[in-house]
Amino acid sequence: MKKILWISAFILTLSACQNNAKNKTEKAPQPKAETKTAKPAFDHKAYKMKGMIIAKNTFKVFKSNIQKVAAKDGLPGVVNFCHDNAMKLTDSLGKLHHVVIKRTSHKLRNPKNKPDIDDEAVLNEYLRLQEEHKPMEPVVMKDADGYVHFYAPIKLKKECLKCHGTPDKEIPEQIYKLIKSKYPNDKATGFKAGELRGIWDIKFLDMADK
Ligand code: HEC
Repeated sequence: MKKILWISAFILTLSACQNNAKNKTEKAPQPKAETKTAKPAFDHKAYKMKGMIIAKNTFKVFKSNIQKVAAKDGLPGVVNFCHDNAMKLTDSLGKLHHVVIKRTSHKLRNPKNKPDIDDEAVLNEYLRLQEEHKPMEPVVMKDADGYVHFYAPIKLKKECLKCHGTPDKEIPEQIYKLIKSKYPNDKATGFKAGELRGIWDIKFLDMADK
């Protein structure tokens, strides 16, 4: 019975180490122009749609994998799975879509997900909006080399607290130990539900309409 409850908690969670694609399209983004060449010479809307589809698809693939792992090996199994496969999964899905899929954050767990200078600018902008209680919309911008990037906020949900909340309060002790053993410099704890956990940065490699 206990196991069944755990499993259904996971199926509800659907996400574990993976994040939530924000899928609002209505409002136009307000890109910060300082770090990008924000010439409107490409179809923002089309890239935004593509970015959201890819982020959603990535989330879905994570979800189905994690459900299987959770049912078999519980929460520790999911931590191990994320440790061993999160990056491989985003890499292979990126190849499939001819993009580079990155998840990054101002408070990192895996140092390999480190933000670059543009990610930092986007993160800071979202953090500012969060502070002002304003909505965070997805953004499409070109980088200095001319590649188009899609950015979207990743918000923390209640179910993420098991691995990103407060240690010993929301994160069970043995899970925190396991996380610390795999990520000694983990900074991705202490979040509250609803807070900005990080961002998607999806880089399009085609440059078709440069
Ligand atoms: C079972 C534990 C677990 C749960 C639950 C969990 N995560 Fe994570 N999360 C991890 C691990 C482990 C990593 C590191 C993955 C890697 O090595 O790339 C991670 C990494 C991330 C990253 C990449 C940035 C970084 O810090 O390295 C984001 C973004 C993220 N999680 C968001 C979420 C969100 C949003 C939720 C809830 C929907 C969630 N996580 C739930 C364990 C978890």
